[in-house]
Parts: sequence; C-alpha cells; structure tokens
Amino acid sequence: MNDETIHPLTQNVLRTFADCTDPRLKQIMTALVKHLHAFASEVELTGEEWRRGIEFLTATGNKCSGIRQEFILLSDTLGLSIMVDAINHERTGDTTESSLLGPFYREGAREEAFGANIARTEGEPTLIRGRLVDERGAPVSGALIEVWETANNGMYEGQDPDQPESNLRGKFRSGPNGEYAFRTIKPTSYPIPTDGPVGRMLLATGRHPMRPAHIHFLIEAPGYETLTTALYSAGDPYVDSDAVFGAKPSLVIDYVPNDSAASAKEWDLPSPFFEVQRDFVMSRQLA
Ligand code: BEZ
Ligand code: FE
Repeated sequence: MNDETIHPLTQNVLRTFADCTDPRLKQIMTALVKHLHAFASEVELTGEEWRRGIEFLTATGNKCSGIRQEFILLSDTLGLSIMVDAINHERTGDTTESSLLGPFYREGAREEAFGANIARTEGEPTLIRGRLVDERGAPVSGALIEVWETANNGMYEGQDPDQPESNLRGKFRSGPNGEYAFRTIKPTSYPIPTDGPVGRMLLATGRHPMRPAHIHFLIEAPGYETLTTALYSAGDPYVDSDAVFGAKPSLVIDYVPNDSAASAKEWDLPSPFFEVQRDFVMSRQLA
C-alpha cells in the first residue's frame, strides 16, 4: 500500500497518530489501522457482518477467566501465535526449532532425578532421552528441562481434577555431558477447548480442533536463549493439520519399540517399551 492508494477515510485516522511520541506504538497503530481498513474494504464488509464480528469478539472476551484464555486460543487457531514465534525465533544453523507454549503450562513442577517416571496414570511406557548441546556439539550441562503432556484422556493435569498431583509433568537437569532422560507414557492427540466462540469458529469454517500427540519442553540454561518447543509423534493422524500450527517437520519424532529385557530392567519399565532418542540444540544468547 503506498500513500496514494490509501483511502481518504484511512488517511484521516492515520493523521490522528501524528503527535504520538512513542515511535513503536505509532508504527504498530498505523499498520493496524491500514490493514483493518484494507480488510473491510477488500471483503466489502456489511454492517450486519461487522455487528456479528463484534459479538464474536465480545463472546471471546467473556469466555476468558483465570483458567481460560480464549483470545490466546483465537490467536493460536488463526496462526498468529506461531507467526509471532517465527518472527522472534529465527532458526540459526541446526538449533532446535521452537513451538507453542500453549495455555496448559503450569509453573511449579517438581525437580526430578535423572530418568524419573512422571506418569502416574496408565499409558504406553516410554523412555525419552538425549543430550542438550550447543551449535558446535558441546554439551549444555545444568540446564533445566521442563516437560508436560496430556494423560490418555487428552487432558493436562491442571485441567482435570481426577489426575494425581504432578501427573505427566516435571523438571529435569541436564548432566555433565548434557544428558537427560525421563520415563513417561506415549502422548495422545487431543482437541483444544471447543466450548467457546473459537470452537464455534472452527466448526463454522469446517476445521477440526485436534492437536497431534506431543510432549512440551521448556529448556532454560544460563547463556542460552530459552527454548520453548514440543516433540510431535510421527504417524499421528493430525501431524500435518495441527489446529494451532505448532507441529513442524523438524520436531516430529519416532517412538521406537525397545524389546530388550535388559534395557527394560535397567530402566525399570515393562517390556517392550517405546524409546525416543532426541537431542536439543540450544542457541547461544547474543552478548
Ligand atoms: C497445547 O499444546 O497445550 C495448546 C496449544 C495451543 C492451544 C491449545 C493447546
Ligand atoms: Fe499441548
């Protein structure tokens, strides 16, 4: 859009920002108004349609509470959250790609010992292990690795009062060689909450609400960019159509059956179990 093609009504509004003393706010408001006006003009929005749009946004706000953030869900399902993530976490070299934190992260997980089992509900036993390294392959030791995933009913512990405290979430510290390991269950795909306006938007536009099975990781190490990511299960029916666009090809992992009785004994898991070997490549903080 160059200045000549901007509608006079839009120009009127843009002029009202002339005295804004915060240059970044001015830039954001100017672009927002330009794009909003261009959108209304492109689709020739009717008064009735905009009234329904405002009703939708009002319902979205009314759905928000201490435990529910419908606007984040709207941003997620419109791909805006993952776009903001992409803009701010450009992948350098072989560093591990980021993904969405999601609304079900809860602070205060317990720190567990290397290899601990975080599953307190039934599922397919799984060992997840690997190393934290930097871009040159050097170990990143002493990092905090926080993980969380849903139970087999598709709900996170914080959503479901029937799950035991700390089920399927925990914190681990990487060892001297950057190594980490924990036992858990193989995750399942699950629907994002659909009992609100965002769910109605998905239904009206012919979209499904499913996220492919995944385990969330939040990795913090001094001197490195914090890595918010997730590992998605290969073969999951929704891995190529994630409702919130967080699943990226580089984050898809295989759950490999391990039928070694000795390994099962070593890790105190039933035989066979699934094993995932996955390293994370951390990005150094720029000085
Ligand atoms: C999640 O993975 O927990 C999630 C992310 C975005 C929206 C809903 C759920
Ligand atoms: Fe999730």
